[in-house]
Amino acid sequence: EQAGKGQFEHFMLKEIYEQPTALTQALEGRVDPENGRIALEDLELGTFNDIDNVQLIACGTSYHAALYGSLTLNQAGIKSTALLANEYSVASPPIDDNTLVIAVTQSGETADTLNALRQANEAGANTLTVTNVVGSTAAREADDALFIRAGPEIGVAATKTFSSQAVMLSLLVQRITEDIHGTPAATEIESYLSELAEMPDQIEELLERSDAEALASRYEQSQSYFFIGRGLGFPVALEGALKFKEITYEHAEGFASGELKHGPLALVTPDTPVFAVFTGEEDEKTLKNAEEAQTRGAPVVAVCPEGHRAVDVADAHLEIPDTDADLAGLLANVQLQLVSYYAADLLERPIDKPRNLAKSVTVE
Ligand code: G6P
Repeated sequence: EQAGKGQFEHFMLKEIYEQPTALTQALEGRVDPENGRIALEDLELGTFNDIDNVQLIACGTSYHAALYGSLTLNQAGIKSTALLANEYSVASPPIDDNTLVIAVTQSGETADTLNALRQANEAGANTLTVTNVVGSTAAREADDALFIRAGPEIGVAATKTFSSQAVMLSLLVQRITEDIHGTPAATEIESYLSELAEMPDQIEELLERSDAEALASRYEQSQSYFFIGRGLGFPVALEGALKFKEITYEHAEGFASGELKHGPLALVTPDTPVFAVFTGEEDEKTLKNAEEAQTRGAPVVAVCPEGHRAVDVADAHLEIPDTDADLAGLLANVQLQLVSYYAADLLERPIDKPRNLAKSVTVE
């Protein structure tokens, strides 16, 4: 097992560091920033011409990637919802011939997600899976499959596959929007695709310079950990909290920034650090929400580029490289992965195999 980890103490850290490679593989042959073109294997331009609404179904970390994809579609003016696959049978959202259902699943074997996919297939939806595993059940049962090419992920807590799913969904969103509206979601597609192409290098840079380890030890004695974000920062806040609780066993919650004042603020004390993700979407509002927590004594950690106004207000800073607002959250997520990893390491948790959790849950 040690051989597989190479220079790293845990698979999780290795997989966090593999993200530049994973994303390079996900983008390989699929984006051409110079002419603004995206190629998605046999999903030719026009595949989604008749689609008018998109449902994304997933569980766990994949659900956060699905939510990210769905919000991006909404921002591009496409009707879309992200649904927890295990809620799908009771939610039974309406489906017709113009519905596209995307099952987002790293393993392609999660029972809840497969059940929802089968329900969608039976109801006559067009189905597609975004998965890491060629030959998986989801890949076989969905009408189409897009592979994220992240390579094997051993750590139970998903890291590189989240980033790869989100990037893959970003490409898919561009294509779906182009088919439906005639133009891709990004107003300047060439510059968006070049920012995407730069992500592997940006993550490399972030990994080299991250202060996450020092930060994890600074807040080691805390009682609870909160993660807030707005817009595309919201799924990142949810994912930051999920990762944190999965591997540290400490209490962590993710909230939409604006929700803090509608309840969670009652939990805020000097022992509850608040990680605030800034993606460039109404950042002043998120900063105000973070300050409301700070006024109650909570230390605020701003996850944002250098020079951002939040850096002056916050008690600590995790820096992300400057990028497109649609992609900033994915860089912030890498910083949060590192914080969780180092916090769990200080607590000497079995990071790669957290208690009670399985890499792939094949029961309902
Ligand atoms: C399990 C894993 C999670 C994962 C979820 C969905 O609960 O512990 O890390 O996000 O399943 O897995 P999938 O393979 O469908 O993405």
